[in-house]
Amino acid sequence: MSNYHIKNLEEYFQVYRKSVRDPESFWEEIAEENFMWRKRWDKVLEYDLSKPEVSWYKGAKLNITENCIDRHLYTRGDKTAIIFEPNDPSEEAEHISYKQLHERVCRFANVLKNHGIEKGDRVCIYLPMIPELAVSLLACARIGAIHSVVFAGFSATALSTRINDSDCKMVITSDGSYRGNKTIDLKGIVDEALESCPSVQTVLVAKRINSEIPMKTNRDKWLQPLLDEAYHDCEPVIMDAEDPLFILYTSGSTGKPKGMVHTTAGYMVYTAYTFKNVFQYRENDVFWCTADIGWITGHSYIVYGPLANGATTVMFEGVPSYPDFGRFWQVVEKHKVNQFYTAPTAIRALAKERLDFSENYDLSSLKILGSVGEPINEEAWHWYNDNIGKKNCPIVDTWWQTETGGIMISPIPYSTPTIPTYATLPLPGVQIALMDENGEELKGNQVSGRLCIKFPWPAMARTIWGNHERYRETYFSAFENKYFTGDGALRDSTGYYRITGRVDDVIIVSGHNLGTAPIEDAINEHPAVAESAIVGFPHDVKGNALYGFVILKEIGETRVHENLRKEINQIITEHIGPIAKLDKIQFTTGLPKTRSGKIMRRILRKIAEKDTNNMGDISTLLNPEVVQEIMDGAI
Ligand code: WT7
Repeated sequence: MSNYHIKNLEEYFQVYRKSVRDPESFWEEIAEENFMWRKRWDKVLEYDLSKPEVSWYKGAKLNITENCIDRHLYTRGDKTAIIFEPNDPSEEAEHISYKQLHERVCRFANVLKNHGIEKGDRVCIYLPMIPELAVSLLACARIGAIHSVVFAGFSATALSTRINDSDCKMVITSDGSYRGNKTIDLKGIVDEALESCPSVQTVLVAKRINSEIPMKTNRDKWLQPLLDEAYHDCEPVIMDAEDPLFILYTSGSTGKPKGMVHTTAGYMVYTAYTFKNVFQYRENDVFWCTADIGWITGHSYIVYGPLANGATTVMFEGVPSYPDFGRFWQVVEKHKVNQFYTAPTAIRALAKERLDFSENYDLSSLKILGSVGEPINEEAWHWYNDNIGKKNCPIVDTWWQTETGGIMISPIPYSTPTIPTYATLPLPGVQIALMDENGEELKGNQVSGRLCIKFPWPAMARTIWGNHERYRETYFSAFENKYFTGDGALRDSTGYYRITGRVDDVIIVSGHNLGTAPIEDAINEHPAVAESAIVGFPHDVKGNALYGFVILKEIGETRVHENLRKEINQIITEHIGPIAKLDKIQFTTGLPKTRSGKIMRRILRKIAEKDTNNMGDISTLLNPEVVQEIMDGAI
């Protein structure tokens, strides 16, 4: 039996028990047998969750790109590492072999070096889903620079906040991007962001849409000529196990976005291990994760996890609806995809369309289907299972977070029996605790509580960039010596887990994690707005949509309100991005508040969900009369 590849339920239980009984030797064997180390570790794990401080494989030396690329050159040099499928189906797909990937990463790494980027420097990457995106991550990792990818749907303000938070020296972007039948002026957004980013010295610009764009002298450089001139080989910089690999921002319930810091060795081992098992990847399979590399899902399961296993990974530039709703299935047929990993919001959107969009394509290559980002509802699960998997492909409902680095709770195909809406069982090495409100761990089955992890795992984020205290406070202060996820969960009579959703002020819209506070801050910048509160409400396709309650400084006419609704969404788009736009905006004269002045979101949530039969106790409110007004005006 190998710890690395679980093949049936009995093995899962054996491996799981071992991982709990002796985590160090469990993770030691996996690291020893499956990766390339320049120096062995001195200690597998050292930790103190009260600080919190965690180090995995301390003392080891390695470069993650040697593991993801170089070591495959002997055995898989001509194998396709990345299949790039462009936005427009009439444009040819690109197959990049491991050898070619090696050369492209080396050239890119040399361009970075030639522009003064050194180990530990931060590089912001703001690119569409084109090969340069994956290559730029790996090029940074090759020389020990810390990449900070910002999803190319974020606004200029959101981009500049992230660049400044980690003082990036360089931005890598493109002249623009394609999205369905639209083009987006990415470089224009970067120019606007950089008006307030003093740390940025160089902007490398990839050509994608061949648009005429202004280039700022001495700062902006076209990427391709630099790559052409650069040397084709580049020695990897040898890193310590705990050197930061990347920063990735995630929104919190309050304050500015949190730059989650992931380190090298633990992240590599964990993403590779979970990729292998959750997707049961076999040599020559074609794996496709539809996420954008701007999110953790793309980092871990388009780039690092698959490449560390020598896999073939698909990078898709387009959207599920262009040129029509059959696009995903056309790509599955074209590249004979074996494992397909997407988000419930995409499944729900496709399930609304005619069935022939999927029936017209040969989906027989599919073996395993995955879901990630939010709970998958029963209806969507069945649609996915019946029409895409033809009842023949296990569905892995994978629960995890930006902070966890890799998948934490998920079925293992062919081992774990699946049940719709259940993420099922923790992966080996993941020790879960459900906690009650008094801070006691709930033992036994058939309980529900706050989802915590009580033992370190290799891919956990180590800190928030520049603010370790915020890291401790956010994740390790609610329950002593435990990582608190912010989610609620239940454990059924068989020990299966079902994630019940966020228990904090984070709302998941179309699989995107949005904090209420930053959206409220943006709205409040509108000169006519006095105060606002955002809550989520159920939405067919997005899972949740946003409902804003807004108090105006002066109550105007309805006509004025229509413009205001547009302006409010405009401000949100500028500050955060279109994903955070409100579906409903209700103007009101007050918000329900406690005597200490805290907005009672529970009440607003009920109104937004149209569940007002039992409002609970509102007598303790400062202004109970406002509740009726809001109920009467609800949209
Ligand atoms: C939050 C993390 C992990 C990559 C994508 C999102 C929710 C994620 C599931 C799932 C129920 C899920 C949780 C979690 N979530 N996967 N399978 N079932 N909820 O990463 O943006 O950091 O969001 O997404 O609420 O805390 P993220």
